[in-house]
Amino acid sequence: MNIPSWIQYFERNRSNFDEPPLAPDASPLPDGLRLPLAASLAVFQLGETGGGTRLMRYVRRTLRHQPEALEGYDLAVRLFIAEEHRHAQLLEKLVTYLGGTLLQRHWSNTIFRRLRTLFGMEFNIQILLTAELIAEAYYGLIYRKTTDEEVRSCCHKILQDEMRHIAFHTSFFQQRLTSMPRPLRKMWRVGFRACHAITATIVAWDHRRLLKSLGIGQGEFVRLTLKAGQRFLRRLDSRSSSWQPDISLRSCQKASQLATPR
Ligand SMILES: [Fe+2]
Ligand SMILES: [Fe+2]
Repeated sequence: MNIPSWIQYFERNRSNFDEPPLAPDASPLPDGLRLPLAASLAVFQLGETGGGTRLMRYVRRTLRHQPEALEGYDLAVRLFIAEEHRHAQLLEKLVTYLGGTLLQRHWSNTIFRRLRTLFGMEFNIQILLTAELIAEAYYGLIYRKTTDEEVRSCCHKILQDEMRHIAFHTSFFQQRLTSMPRPLRKMWRVGFRACHAITATIVAWDHRRLLKSLGIGQGEFVRLTLKAGQRFLRRLDSRSSSWQPDISLRSCQKASQLATPR
Protein backbone atom coordinates (compact mmCIF):
# COMPACT_ATOMS: atom_id res chain seq x y z
CA MET A 1 0.00 0.00 0.00
CA ASN A 2 1.51 3.30 -1.07
CA ILE A 3 0.46 5.35 1.94
CA PRO A 4 2.33 8.59 1.02
CA SER A 5 0.54 8.77 -2.34
CA TRP A 6 -2.81 8.32 -0.59
CA ILE A 7 -1.96 11.15 1.81
CA GLN A 8 -1.04 13.29 -1.20
CA TYR A 9 -4.26 12.35 -2.96
CA PHE A 10 -6.51 13.21 0.02
CA GLU A 11 -4.72 16.52 0.51
CA ARG A 12 -5.02 17.44 -3.18
CA ASN A 13 -8.66 16.39 -3.31
CA ARG A 14 -9.68 18.80 -0.54
CA SER A 15 -10.39 21.67 -2.87
CA ASN A 16 -11.14 20.19 -6.27
CA PHE A 17 -14.91 20.69 -6.29
CA ASP A 18 -16.87 23.78 -7.25
CA GLU A 19 -20.05 23.45 -5.28
CA PRO A 20 -23.17 24.33 -7.28
CA PRO A 21 -25.61 26.91 -5.88
CA LEU A 22 -27.90 25.05 -3.45
CA ALA A 23 -30.53 27.51 -2.23
CA PRO A 24 -32.98 25.93 0.24
CA ASP A 25 -36.10 24.46 -1.37
CA ALA A 26 -34.95 25.39 -4.88
CA SER A 27 -34.96 22.00 -6.61
CA PRO A 28 -37.20 21.83 -9.70
CA LEU A 29 -37.73 18.06 -9.32
CA PRO A 30 -41.36 16.90 -9.04
CA ASP A 31 -42.50 16.12 -5.47
CA GLY A 32 -42.88 12.42 -6.33
CA LEU A 33 -39.10 12.20 -6.69
CA ARG A 34 -37.88 15.21 -4.68
CA LEU A 35 -39.38 14.13 -1.34
CA PRO A 36 -38.22 10.48 -1.30
CA LEU A 37 -34.82 11.63 -2.59
CA ALA A 38 -34.48 14.17 0.23
CA ALA A 39 -35.57 11.60 2.84
CA SER A 40 -33.14 9.01 1.49
CA LEU A 41 -30.19 11.42 1.22
CA ALA A 42 -30.86 12.51 4.82
CA VAL A 43 -30.10 8.93 5.94
CA PHE A 44 -26.86 8.90 3.93
CA GLN A 45 -26.02 12.36 5.33
CA LEU A 46 -26.30 11.03 8.87
CA GLY A 47 -24.05 8.11 7.93
CA GLU A 48 -21.30 10.51 6.85
CA THR A 49 -21.22 12.40 10.14
CA GLY A 50 -19.39 9.81 12.28
CA GLY A 51 -16.39 11.27 14.09
CA GLY A 52 -14.13 8.31 13.34
CA THR A 53 -12.97 8.23 16.99
CA ARG A 54 -13.17 4.45 17.34
CA LEU A 55 -11.63 3.83 13.93
CA MET A 56 -8.70 6.11 14.80
CA ARG A 57 -8.30 4.31 18.12
CA TYR A 58 -8.13 0.93 16.33
CA VAL A 59 -5.69 2.33 13.77
CA ARG A 60 -3.37 3.74 16.45
CA ARG A 61 -3.52 0.47 18.40
CA THR A 62 -2.62 -1.57 15.31
CA LEU A 63 0.14 0.87 14.41
CA ARG A 64 1.76 0.35 17.80
CA HIS A 65 2.22 -3.34 16.92
CA GLN A 66 3.15 -2.90 13.24
CA PRO A 67 4.66 0.57 12.88
CA GLU A 68 6.69 -0.15 9.70
CA ALA A 69 4.00 -1.88 7.65
CA LEU A 70 1.48 0.92 8.12
CA GLU A 71 3.61 4.02 8.54
CA GLY A 72 1.52 7.12 7.90
CA TYR A 73 -1.73 5.16 7.76
CA ASP A 74 -3.15 7.10 10.73
CA LEU A 75 -2.76 10.39 8.83
CA ALA A 76 -4.27 8.88 5.66
CA VAL A 77 -7.28 7.61 7.64
CA ARG A 78 -7.69 10.99 9.32
CA LEU A 79 -7.75 12.67 5.89
CA PHE A 80 -10.21 10.04 4.65
CA ILE A 81 -12.53 10.75 7.61
CA ALA A 82 -12.28 14.50 6.91
CA GLU A 83 -13.35 13.82 3.31
CA GLU A 84 -16.42 11.91 4.58
CA HIS A 85 -17.25 14.91 6.78
CA ARG A 86 -17.13 17.16 3.71
CA HIS A 87 -19.65 14.78 2.11
CA ALA A 88 -21.85 15.20 5.20
CA GLN A 89 -21.70 18.99 4.78
CA LEU A 90 -22.49 18.78 1.08
CA LEU A 91 -25.36 16.35 1.68
CA GLU A 92 -26.72 18.62 4.41
CA LYS A 93 -27.02 21.43 1.84
CA LEU A 94 -28.43 19.04 -0.73
CA VAL A 95 -31.18 17.78 1.62
CA THR A 96 -32.14 21.39 2.43
CA TYR A 97 -32.04 22.27 -1.28
CA LEU A 98 -34.49 19.41 -1.88
CA GLY A 99 -36.78 20.68 0.89
CA GLY A 100 -36.06 17.72 3.18
CA THR A 101 -35.37 17.44 6.90
CA LEU A 102 -32.03 16.45 8.39
CA LEU A 103 -31.96 13.50 10.77
CA GLN A 104 -30.45 13.27 14.24
CA ARG A 105 -30.93 9.50 14.51
CA HIS A 106 -31.84 6.60 12.27
CA TRP A 107 -31.99 2.92 13.17
CA SER A 108 -29.75 1.86 10.25
CA ASN A 109 -27.06 4.31 11.33
CA THR A 110 -27.19 3.07 14.92
CA ILE A 111 -26.82 -0.58 13.82
CA PHE A 112 -24.04 0.32 11.37
CA ARG A 113 -22.05 2.11 14.08
CA ARG A 114 -22.53 -0.68 16.62
CA LEU A 115 -21.51 -3.33 14.06
CA ARG A 116 -18.31 -1.47 13.24
CA THR A 117 -17.15 -1.64 16.83
CA LEU A 118 -17.57 -5.39 17.22
CA PHE A 119 -14.15 -6.68 16.15
CA GLY A 120 -11.09 -4.50 15.71
CA MET A 121 -9.70 -2.45 12.85
CA GLU A 122 -10.09 -4.88 9.90
CA PHE A 123 -13.76 -5.46 10.63
CA ASN A 124 -14.38 -1.74 11.15
CA ILE A 125 -12.86 -1.00 7.74
CA GLN A 126 -14.70 -3.94 6.17
CA ILE A 127 -18.05 -2.50 7.29
CA LEU A 128 -16.97 0.93 6.03
CA LEU A 129 -16.04 -0.64 2.71
CA THR A 130 -19.47 -2.29 2.47
CA ALA A 131 -21.04 1.16 2.90
CA GLU A 132 -18.75 2.58 0.18
CA LEU A 133 -19.77 -0.19 -2.25
CA ILE A 134 -23.43 0.51 -1.57
CA ALA A 135 -22.78 4.25 -1.99
CA GLU A 136 -21.16 3.54 -5.37
CA ALA A 137 -24.39 2.01 -6.70
CA TYR A 138 -26.59 4.54 -4.87
CA TYR A 139 -24.97 7.77 -6.10
CA GLY A 140 -24.46 6.28 -9.56
CA LEU A 141 -28.18 5.60 -9.81
CA ILE A 142 -29.19 9.08 -8.65
CA TYR A 143 -26.69 10.59 -11.08
CA ARG A 144 -28.11 8.61 -13.98
CA LYS A 145 -31.79 8.82 -13.12
CA THR A 146 -32.32 12.44 -12.08
CA THR A 147 -32.45 15.55 -14.24
CA ASP A 148 -31.60 18.18 -11.63
CA GLU A 149 -28.06 19.32 -12.52
CA GLU A 150 -27.29 20.48 -8.96
CA VAL A 151 -28.19 17.06 -7.58
CA ARG A 152 -26.27 15.31 -10.34
CA SER A 153 -23.18 17.43 -9.82
CA CYS A 154 -23.09 16.73 -6.05
CA CYS A 155 -23.70 12.99 -6.58
CA HIS A 156 -20.99 12.88 -9.24
CA LYS A 157 -18.50 14.46 -6.85
CA ILE A 158 -19.40 12.11 -3.98
CA LEU A 159 -19.35 9.12 -6.34
CA GLN A 160 -15.84 10.00 -7.54
CA ASP A 161 -14.63 10.27 -3.95
CA GLU A 162 -16.36 7.06 -2.82
CA MET A 163 -14.78 5.09 -5.66
CA ARG A 164 -11.38 6.27 -4.52
CA HIS A 165 -12.27 5.34 -0.96
CA ILE A 166 -12.98 1.83 -2.24
CA ALA A 167 -9.56 1.80 -3.87
CA PHE A 168 -8.02 3.09 -0.62
CA HIS A 169 -9.58 0.25 1.39
CA THR A 170 -8.70 -2.24 -1.37
CA SER A 171 -5.02 -1.31 -1.04
CA PHE A 172 -5.30 -1.78 2.71
CA PHE A 173 -6.90 -5.22 2.43
CA GLN A 174 -4.44 -6.30 -0.27
CA GLN A 175 -1.67 -5.67 2.23
CA ARG A 176 -3.43 -7.19 5.23
CA LEU A 177 -4.74 -10.34 3.54
CA THR A 178 -1.36 -11.36 2.12
CA SER A 179 -0.19 -12.17 5.64
CA MET A 180 -3.23 -14.44 6.22
CA PRO A 181 -3.10 -18.20 5.57
CA ARG A 182 -5.09 -19.19 2.48
CA PRO A 183 -8.02 -20.90 4.28
CA LEU A 184 -8.45 -17.84 6.47
CA ARG A 185 -8.41 -15.56 3.40
CA LYS A 186 -11.15 -17.70 1.85
CA MET A 187 -13.19 -17.47 5.02
CA TRP A 188 -12.72 -13.70 5.05
CA ARG A 189 -14.12 -13.49 1.51
CA VAL A 190 -17.14 -15.63 2.38
CA GLY A 191 -17.81 -13.45 5.43
CA PHE A 192 -17.40 -10.29 3.38
CA ARG A 193 -19.84 -11.47 0.69
CA ALA A 194 -22.47 -12.47 3.27
CA CYS A 195 -22.15 -9.22 5.21
CA HIS A 196 -22.33 -7.19 1.98
CA ALA A 197 -25.40 -9.05 0.66
CA ILE A 198 -27.30 -8.68 3.95
CA THR A 199 -26.47 -4.97 4.26
CA ALA A 200 -27.39 -4.26 0.62
CA THR A 201 -30.76 -6.00 1.05
CA ILE A 202 -31.55 -3.97 4.18
CA VAL A 203 -30.51 -0.68 2.51
CA ALA A 204 -32.62 -1.49 -0.60
CA TRP A 205 -35.65 -2.10 1.61
CA ASP A 206 -35.02 1.01 3.71
CA HIS A 207 -34.72 3.22 0.59
CA ARG A 208 -37.51 1.47 -1.35
CA ARG A 209 -39.54 4.69 -1.80
CA LEU A 210 -36.67 6.41 -3.55
CA LEU A 211 -35.82 3.34 -5.65
CA LYS A 212 -39.47 3.09 -6.73
CA SER A 213 -39.57 6.75 -7.75
CA LEU A 214 -36.36 6.20 -9.75
CA GLY A 215 -37.95 3.18 -11.45
CA ILE A 216 -35.52 0.70 -9.89
CA GLY A 217 -36.52 -2.50 -8.13
CA GLN A 218 -34.99 -3.42 -4.79
CA GLY A 219 -33.55 -6.58 -6.33
CA GLU A 220 -31.89 -4.58 -9.11
CA PHE A 221 -30.30 -2.27 -6.55
CA VAL A 222 -28.96 -5.23 -4.59
CA ARG A 223 -27.57 -6.75 -7.82
CA LEU A 224 -25.80 -3.47 -8.63
CA THR A 225 -24.16 -3.28 -5.22
CA LEU A 226 -23.17 -6.96 -5.36
CA LYS A 227 -21.50 -6.32 -8.70
CA ALA A 228 -19.51 -3.55 -7.04
CA GLY A 229 -18.53 -6.09 -4.35
CA GLN A 230 -17.42 -8.61 -6.99
CA ARG A 231 -15.28 -5.96 -8.65
CA PHE A 232 -13.70 -5.19 -5.29
CA LEU A 233 -12.88 -8.89 -4.74
CA ARG A 234 -11.39 -9.15 -8.24
CA ARG A 235 -9.22 -6.09 -7.61
CA LEU A 236 -8.14 -7.58 -4.33
CA ASP A 237 -6.56 -10.46 -6.26
CA SER A 238 -5.38 -8.54 -9.30
CA ARG A 239 -2.57 -6.39 -7.79
CA SER A 240 -2.96 -4.22 -10.84
CA SER A 241 -2.25 -0.53 -10.35
CA SER A 242 -4.72 0.50 -13.03
CA TRP A 243 -8.17 1.70 -12.05
CA GLN A 244 -11.15 0.30 -13.89
CA PRO A 245 -14.03 2.77 -13.89
CA ASP A 246 -17.13 1.24 -12.41
CA ILE A 247 -20.14 0.40 -14.56
CA SER A 248 -22.28 2.85 -12.59
CA LEU A 249 -19.83 5.60 -13.40
CA ARG A 250 -19.43 4.86 -17.08
CA SER A 251 -22.12 7.32 -17.93
CA CYS A 252 -20.29 10.03 -16.03
CA GLN A 253 -18.38 12.19 -18.45
CA LYS A 254 -15.34 12.44 -16.22
CA ALA A 255 -14.99 8.72 -15.55
CA SER A 256 -11.95 8.35 -17.74
CA GLN A 257 -10.17 11.06 -15.75
CA LEU A 258 -10.19 9.04 -12.55
CA ALA A 259 -6.73 8.16 -11.40
CA THR A 260 -6.15 6.22 -8.24
CA PRO A 261 -2.94 6.03 -6.25
CA ARG A 262 -2.15 2.72 -4.57
FE1 LIG B 1 -18.80 9.59 1.75
FE1 LIG C 1 -16.52 7.02 1.53
